[in-house]
Amino acid sequence: MTTPISLSFTETDIEALAALAGKIAVIVPPEGKLDPVGRRLNRLTKGALARLVEAEGFAKAKDGDVLQMAFPAGLAAEAVLVLKLARRPSVEEARKAGAALAKQRGKGALTVCAGATARVAEIGLGLALRAYDFDAHKTGDKTPAEDAAFMVSKPDEAQAEWDGLKPLAEGVFFTRDLVNEPSNVLTTVEFAERLKALAELGVDIEVLEEDELEKLGMRTLLAVGQGSESPSKVVVMQWKGGGDEAPLALIGKGVVFDTGGISIKPAAGMEDMTMDMGGAGTVAGVMKAIAGRKAKANIVALVGLVENMPDGRAQRPGDVVRSMKGDTVEVINTDAEGRLVLCDVMWYAQDRFSPSGMIDLATLTGAIIISLGHENAGVFSNDDDFCGAFLKAAKAEGEGAWRMPLGKAYDEKLKSRIADMKNVGGRDAGSITAAQFLGRFVKDGTPWIHLDIAGVASVKSDTALAPKGATGWGVLALDRLIRDRYEG
Ligand code: BES
Ligand code: MN
Ligand code: ZN
Repeated sequence: MTTPISLSFTETDIEALAALAGKIAVIVPPEGKLDPVGRRLNRLTKGALARLVEAEGFAKAKDGDVLQMAFPAGLAAEAVLVLKLARRPSVEEARKAGAALAKQRGKGALTVCAGATARVAEIGLGLALRAYDFDAHKTGDKTPAEDAAFMVSKPDEAQAEWDGLKPLAEGVFFTRDLVNEPSNVLTTVEFAERLKALAELGVDIEVLEEDELEKLGMRTLLAVGQGSESPSKVVVMQWKGGGDEAPLALIGKGVVFDTGGISIKPAAGMEDMTMDMGGAGTVAGVMKAIAGRKAKANIVALVGLVENMPDGRAQRPGDVVRSMKGDTVEVINTDAEGRLVLCDVMWYAQDRFSPSGMIDLATLTGAIIISLGHENAGVFSNDDDFCGAFLKAAKAEGEGAWRMPLGKAYDEKLKSRIADMKNVGGRDAGSITAAQFLGRFVKDGTPWIHLDIAGVASVKSDTALAPKGATGWGVLALDRLIRDRYEG
């Protein structure tokens, strides 16, 4: 793991405050009332804390903001961070407050005096998520951040709460590490190796190699990868934490690099296509999270790992390829490769597992970024109840998700002169025709959600809970969906 996650929760030790090294954070509610720790810090700083809280800066600060008192006289600490936060924050407020602390702390020691504040572990989760740093390929000083120590009135409760949340942070970090990794490192082979490590947590892992995929008839998937030196693979991950009920299936697009193939992409920005395995990365992070917290549910996750390269053996525009389902596809544009990968993996997942529901995640279309920007993933579904449950989970976790339409009329655009369908439907409604294409590979009666995460998987500026780069979008929402709908 790139960034170690270490938080501790201990009882408040008022006597220790004067001698603490690093930074001390103290939580002050909007009305400005200091708790016993605050009063102690105020005495030690000869009234400086109370003056800061009574000044205009504190009144003007928003809930969740952090104010800084540098070189506080009377303390050994290098700074006192004053976090303005209600004593009973919402989950979202708590996480954002933790993230605000993470931004101010640097890498030194931090002691958060949280007293009786509720949701302390959620503050810790926000702090951990925002402190993530992908420095695997930086040389030079890489000292990891020191522990963040929380002083609280009920350390056992906070610790128990954190034990339930830490696996989520680990899941998100797993996703971010995979998505941030460059494609010369994260080849299909390396990706499969990293997934095998989930076996330590009790996840069953199988890697299907090209000869097996050929036997299964996954020709559209194999056609995408046939121009690459890296072999195509499908990895099947099973978490059996439930009873004998049918599993939920998660499917991920794992294009480790998307050059566009023979329909090659322009040079400018092509480097961003290292993140074209974001769907597979998210699915992997969810498996890590649910296995880490030993979820009482049956979940299967399948990822299609391929690289889309131009080569003498690469597929050509105009090729006709037969999918595992049996439908034939005329490949008009080799850059519309994600759907060719997903359709075979989705078909195989339904064929083998008869799942009670299926969710696919993919950095599928640039068009979804035109529609929704980087704030929301596109959500497509054939089932209002299933879709509603997902949207609710995403909202609760603060992960943007917006439902888009499906409809038969869009199917017209996929008609091919010589095959059962084309792989592209033209410029108009590009994300919807992509979803319609996938919809043809959903069996009657399978509730299905397609998440187009091209805009949210990796972003160019910091977000509330992540530094720029891979966000891990979807890990928390899917974990919550599993918790709410499949456990207990
Ligand atoms: N991986 C891309 C989509 C993408 C674009 C992801 C930008 C992240 C950021 C996908 O394989 C692709 O190339 N889609 C084409 C489809 C078109 C050829 C119909 C696109 O969006 O241009
Ligand atoms: Mn493409
Ligand atoms: Zn792609």
